[in-house]
Amino acid sequence: MRTLAVYSMKGGVGKTATSVNLAYWAAQSGLKTLLIDLDPQGASSFYFRVKPAKKSWSKRFFKAYEHLLKQIKASDYENLDIIPAHLSFRHFDVILKGLNKRKSRLQKVLKGLKKEYDLVLLDCPPSIGQLSEAVFMASDQLLVPVIPTTLSERTFEQLHDFFKQERYSRKKILPFFTLVQNQKSLHKNLQEELRAKYPEFLKTVIPFSADVENMGEYRAPVDQFARNKPANLAYQALWKEVSSQLGAK
Ligand SMILES: Nc1ncnc2c1ncn2[C@@H]1O[C@H](COP(=O)(O)OP(=O)(O)O)[C@@H](O)[C@H]1O
Ligand SMILES: [Mg+2]
Repeated sequence: MRTLAVYSMKGGVGKTATSVNLAYWAAQSGLKTLLIDLDPQGASSFYFRVKPAKKSWSKRFFKAYEHLLKQIKASDYENLDIIPAHLSFRHFDVILKGLNKRKSRLQKVLKGLKKEYDLVLLDCPPSIGQLSEAVFMASDQLLVPVIPTTLSERTFEQLHDFFKQERYSRKKILPFFTLVQNQKSLHKNLQEELRAKYPEFLKTVIPFSADVENMGEYRAPVDQFARNKPANLAYQALWKEVSSQLGAK
């Protein structure tokens, strides 16, 4: 089982859009896939039409994998299951703070899922705290969407510095460009600049596209309603590139 997190401390950069489409393509490729929506906003649960649990179970989340198993819901797609977010997930940082071995807790509970799944995908909330550090430990790779703008560049560099300072493996970080508008010279220049500085940027670029925005209307991955459009082909290519780095099928 491989664990892939879609992470940025910035909001609105396409983490959820990426999680939903990659989970879909991973499942299509035959991998038994579990998407865990860690963001209390529950956007990826919404896109997959999966309802949150009625009662809060956030205090049990990091205790034992059996609690996770109970919350797994089937999606409309073969090979793809979801653990929907609950609003109480907003307390994860505080909950983790009160536990011992808090950095390795998530890794430990996820290990319990390895008989059932080939891939666990984590859609993360936009923050950097206890939960994020648990995610950094638990993940084989961290897929980081970067919009080619000055502020996104800055956020990416902060993440890099944080990994260096806290001695996490920077090899885990897989950045890629999203919401790209190549007609803007700033977007073009920043991509060149960042690629020169960080050769680990993935080749695939996700363009700015109304088809991605329309996921909210259709409540489905882009492939379901805009099959031959650039954004869909880009997500498919992104999954291919990521899966070859992950060592997944
Ligand atoms: N490639 C894209 N092109 C156009 N809009 C996008 C794209 N990716 C995401 N969006 C839109 O931007 C907003 C934020 O995306 P989302 O995936 O929710 O980001 P995050 O999870 O990082 O907060 C949403 O309204 C989404 O529809
Ligand atoms: Mg999100």
